[in-house]
Amino acid sequence: MKKRIGILTSGGDCPGLNATIRGVTKSSYSLMDCDFYGIRYGFHGLIHNDIKKMSPRDFSGILAEGGTILGSYRTPFKKMRVVEKDGIDKVAAMIKNYKKHKLDCLICLGGNGTHKNANLLREEGLNVIALPKTIDNDIYGTDITFGYQTAVDTATEIIDRIHTTAASHDRVMVVELMGNKAGWLALYAGIAGGVNVILIPELPYKKDSVVEAVRRHREAGNNFTIVAVAEGAKSQEEAEMSKKAFKAYLAEAPSSAVRVANLIAKETGFEVRTVIPGHILRGGSPTAFDRTLASKIGAFGAKLIAKEQYGVGVSVVNNNCAATPLQAIAGLTKTVPVEDDLIETARLMGISLGQGLNFG
Ligand code: F6P
Repeated sequence: MKKRIGILTSGGDCPGLNATIRGVTKSSYSLMDCDFYGIRYGFHGLIHNDIKKMSPRDFSGILAEGGTILGSYRTPFKKMRVVEKDGIDKVAAMIKNYKKHKLDCLICLGGNGTHKNANLLREEGLNVIALPKTIDNDIYGTDITFGYQTAVDTATEIIDRIHTTAASHDRVMVVELMGNKAGWLALYAGIAGGVNVILIPELPYKKDSVVEAVRRHREAGNNFTIVAVAEGAKSQEEAEMSKKAFKAYLAEAPSSAVRVANLIAKETGFEVRTVIPGHILRGGSPTAFDRTLASKIGAFGAKLIAKEQYGVGVSVVNNNCAATPLQAIAGLTKTVPVEDDLIETARLMGISLGQGLNFG
């Protein structure tokens, strides 16, 4: 019987979503008799029945396109079971629309929040497969997510460009890179871009140590310094604040880079500038690496649909795709382990991680 497959993209977009959509749909068309139902704006579209039957033509010519042809939307997991002002029971509505379109399964492309929502629908008895997207590379159980390498390349190019202007003006440049809970992007782009200080959420920094690192770098004869700060990096004092106190503090000082820049300017007297590329890191065409990864993850997802192996997320482990039960992934974050090779690399290469003399 012809399979009816729902597909959606949820959460923050990234390069490679369209390549993955193409990978999973093209492979499915070749593996089985099926129709795809495109759900607009992620789970929001499933709740509001914004669903339309797609044709194979819809998935052509999108390999190199950034963003997502399906549109994306943030539907926070913690609000899924909360009936809000609109009076809609979101979970009941999603189940109703899934059944209304007689879907055999639902393919959800997204990050941590999407995996939690997909797991919730699995618990409700729907057939779900999640595919790992995010520039943060922080999905548990997978070595890599599509979108991440493109963001590393973009961030590295930005840092390369910052070198020349920093050198012209003898400045300290503090670059903030996305990554709220995990510092993969700041760590990889920081190493690739040859920065002097890298600050990530996993290693709350000592303020003195950051200031000292910048001073030492100047004293060694360099006329400029580049600092890469993950969006979610915190000083040790900030890390010790209660959740509530930190939220109030963030309302006053939302940018980690601005906080670090102010610290360096105040303590050293050097001229400091802040650069926040923000969503530029999520834009544009996926790199060849991400197009390939997206195609591979998509094709693997299609094989799972053909086998009717549901309730799983696709992971990449040692370069091979695998299916991991959603309940083993949902709600967990893959942060940078302190013993990661690149942490050691940074330390050995004299890049400060804001930890003091013995630890960068
Ligand atoms: O999850 C990807 C991400 O880009 C994070 O790095 C960042 O913290 C967040 O999304 C920004 O979200 P929004 O696009 O909703 O501002």
